[in-house]
Amino acid sequence: MFLSVFSMAGCTSVSSVEDIEEVADTQNVMEDDTDEGLIVIGFSQVGAESDWRKANTESMVKTFTREKGYDLILEDAQQKQQNQITAIRTFIQREVDYIVLAPVTEDGWDTVLTEAKDAGIPVIIVDRMVNVSDPELFKCWVGSDFELEGRKACEWLRNYCENKEIAPEEVNIVDIQGTAGASSQIGRTKGLKDAVRANGWNLLEEAAGEYTQAKGREATSRLLRKYDNINVVYCENDNEAFGAIEAIESAGRKVGNNITAGQIMVISFDGVSDQAIEYAKNGKISCIGECNPLHGPRVEKIIQNLQQGVTPDKYEYVDEDIFSGDSTVTSIEVDDSVYTIKILGK
Ligand code: AHR
Repeated sequence: MFLSVFSMAGCTSVSSVEDIEEVADTQNVMEDDTDEGLIVIGFSQVGAESDWRKANTESMVKTFTREKGYDLILEDAQQKQQNQITAIRTFIQREVDYIVLAPVTEDGWDTVLTEAKDAGIPVIIVDRMVNVSDPELFKCWVGSDFELEGRKACEWLRNYCENKEIAPEEVNIVDIQGTAGASSQIGRTKGLKDAVRANGWNLLEEAAGEYTQAKGREATSRLLRKYDNINVVYCENDNEAFGAIEAIESAGRKVGNNITAGQIMVISFDGVSDQAIEYAKNGKISCIGECNPLHGPRVEKIIQNLQQGVTPDKYEYVDEDIFSGDSTVTSIEVDDSVYTIKILGK
């Protein structure tokens, strides 16, 4: 379903794709003549699978308002690449000024992005990357260094274990992965696998979590029945972590850092929702690698540059923090860079 996001000024808060649909339902399509002079942006969003995604959609909607001279056409792909391809084709037919794509997975974009290029419509990629044969198929990308996020979280774990004198062979990890083939899944999984190899930890199993709470719970329940020695659940986002915590607690186990005394440590990514921050403060999540969803203003800057004929950087990585409620580890070092752990007070 295509949604043109109209006149958000009267709207108090747009916190989800559902809210946006409501706004679109109640505010009928404006006459074409009111669109004159607006920059028309077709935005193909992955879906609404996580708190991160909802915050990302909200950032785009709040940035690209009619008051500021934009007409944002938002399309929710419900986590299906085919829906994104259809959306892009419709954006091309509608002759939008820009296409912004938050791709569900990296592969499979050559054909449709060639169609956009042939139509002369600049494409901006946000969040996850695309793996295309010709880099000219998109103008630029802005998002996170997902592998670095994974490496930082694992370095926190290494430091924590060293500090508490936990031997590598005592660390038994399961990885609840994000959407298979998404850059965030690929990077965070690689960060973990490399650290497992380097540190001599045990990686018991990798399971699909699809970035949702339901899948995180389901996968963790199954793994807890299969292995009796899991003591670290590496969740590739916070929503999976919420599900994992539910599964751990309903199995009669305790979440926490004391992994040599029967507790199960949960590590996750994002740090967007109040619940995630609360869980980090009270130790239910031991460490969160931040993933920043606020790409709206970044994409706006790119579009403004393009409007003025300025070529944006091809790749723009966002700086991100790492959070914990535990002060055992105060800083970590990855690739000669030192990152201070943001210790969240109770
Ligand atoms: O690609 C970014 C990831 O996608 C976020 O970590 C996750 O929550 C989201 O669904």
